[in-house]
Amino acid sequence: MKGKDLISISDFKKEEYLQIINLAEYYYNNPEAYNDVLKGKIIATLFFEPSTRTRLSFESAVQRMGGRIIGFSDPSSSSVQKGESLKDTILTVAQYADLIVIRHPLEGSARWAAEVSPVPVINAGDGANQHPTQCLLDLFTIKQSQATLENLSITLVGDLKYGRTVHSLIQALSYFNPTFYLVSPEELKLPYEYKIFIEEKNIKYYESSDINEYLPVSDIVYVTRVQRERFSDPMEYEKVKNAYIIKADMLKNTKKNMKILHPLPRVNEISVDVDETDKAYYFQQALYGVFTRMAIISIILGLN
Ligand code: CP
Repeated sequence: MKGKDLISISDFKKEEYLQIINLAEYYYNNPEAYNDVLKGKIIATLFFEPSTRTRLSFESAVQRMGGRIIGFSDPSSSSVQKGESLKDTILTVAQYADLIVIRHPLEGSARWAAEVSPVPVINAGDGANQHPTQCLLDLFTIKQSQATLENLSITLVGDLKYGRTVHSLIQALSYFNPTFYLVSPEELKLPYEYKIFIEEKNIKYYESSDINEYLPVSDIVYVTRVQRERFSDPMEYEKVKNAYIIKADMLKNTKKNMKILHPLPRVNEISVDVDETDKAYYFQQALYGVFTRMAIISIILGLN
């Protein structure tokens, strides 16, 4: 994986996911193992879209490993504001950094950045397309919570149309014999190409608009926010924004091992009373993002 870009989850094989997850687990359990891994290295984070977790967990990962960070969190403070192209921005930043992390609203922008960049590029989210490092941290979180990735019942809830984390997760979990339970309003159903993907892999899946049907059988309930920023018509967003709100009293008949994940940020889809239950795992998931990103950076730079 040394020198590779990470643009789509499908760029990596099962063995490579497992290598990343295993290193993330090793770093999580052995803080002394990563202190100086990035000594002398500079990582650039270019965020053309808002972010809390992805940008700050990358930056936390780099700093914990002894590296340094440059970049911007607001493109209006960069020369993009003066009309500079993405290509020129990447070609310039590549002179200053050993690796570039980019989030951009345009689908395909991270792939384009990787094509022009002489240093590796990591996609931190391109529109509604892919968010592969979120997917890898989701895999790590599932493994930590269930002690396996194999044969799990995974319920995916909410915005299955625009939720890029769901699309990546379906692709990655397809290697581990899952059963998928798909829960969404009609307007936000999983796009046709991902259904075809599931069917071609002979993966069992069920669909409903009622979350209560699948809560008792789930090992993982993966909740997503309805992605307001992807709607062209605000009225359409208003119709579906509160389609699912998981509350603590809905969790009584769930499996003992069941955990609720959410890539965050949440709006209303998980009530705060769930935070007090042993099912809530989404802040732990945010922590695991740091160790997963540490593993990804050190593997891509060939430093592990
Ligand atoms: N999960 C995630 O991508 O969060 P941010 O948008 O805050 O980075």
